[in-house]
Amino acid sequence: MSTEGGAPRKDIIDYEGSRYRHEFWEDANRAYEDRVERVALRRLLPASGRRLLEVGAGYGRLTPEYQGFNQVVLLDYSLTHLQDAQRNLGRDRRFLYVAADVCQQPFCAGAFDATTTIRVLHHLPDVPGALAETARVLATGGVLVLEHASKRHLKSALRHALGLQDWSPYTLEPLEFVKLNFDFHPEYMRQQLAAVGFRIDRRLPVSWLRLGLLKNTLPTGLLVHTDSLLQHSGALWSPSVFVRATKENPPEISFALDDFLCCPRSGEKLRREGDSMVSVESGQHWAVRDGIYDFREPLT
Ligand SMILES: C[S@@+](CC[C@H](N)C(=O)[O-])C[C@H]1O[C@@H](n2cnc3c(N)ncnc32)[C@H](O)[C@@H]1O
Repeated sequence: MSTEGGAPRKDIIDYEGSRYRHEFWEDANRAYEDRVERVALRRLLPASGRRLLEVGAGYGRLTPEYQGFNQVVLLDYSLTHLQDAQRNLGRDRRFLYVAADVCQQPFCAGAFDATTTIRVLHHLPDVPGALAETARVLATGGVLVLEHASKRHLKSALRHALGLQDWSPYTLEPLEFVKLNFDFHPEYMRQQLAAVGFRIDRRLPVSWLRLGLLKNTLPTGLLVHTDSLLQHSGALWSPSVFVRATKENPPEISFALDDFLCCPRSGEKLRREGDSMVSVESGQHWAVRDGIYDFREPLT
């Protein structure tokens, strides 16, 4: 997903000047989605802490949930969203507003003890890069609460079974269904988090009842109550998944002599066989002569 000819994609969705706040939330029928997301966030986020970073904070919809933190940093690429947040939150010195790209955050390593990112990952072509940057700015032992859109939910499974969609909800690769709008398999997200040193503590399936028919006919309170019960099921078949993950100690780097050498072409880990390093996949060998690993040309 993130590469075109090897380099991560750098395109950023443009929310500048958008009426997202009004058109998507306040003038639309989304009280149910807003409330169930807050339920999940309260269940996963520590009640208090020193410095919290919200990545892709938008106009600050969720800032009331961060009361227990001494300082809250709102990062977003859209200046107009941050200006809107600033207007709502006033000049409260607890809040700091930063316009930047998720993948290039202007913070020192380990600056935060908590990070959230809600409804943002589905816009990112470089999720591994964004998670790596989030891991960098989070202190060891710090908590990340993220939300991601899922490709594996009841509706997509049913449509797939009936042959009504040409993609599978079960494969791990992200699905870009509209430019810069992705759905992710929960297992893909787990793998990406593990790769940058996160341990998953808990996952909550959220927004089960996101259907116009239900929202138009049943009381919002009833839908929210039902969703909050379903979140406890842990069954990851909903369109939205909340994850709480903890940044662990960096993985131990082994000091074995040469078990970190990989094939310069395929990236596959190499095996030592006598006086050569071997790629099992390609069958290629590289010589080890007098203590020098010679990767200029393969032997075979
Ligand atoms: C759907 S809105 C969600 C806003 C907020 N998290 C919420 O739930 O109300 C997505 C936000 O992510 C921001 N965003 C998208 N890509 C970004 C990037 N590469 N760096 C920083 N912010 C980004 C957008 O500007 C937008 O404000």
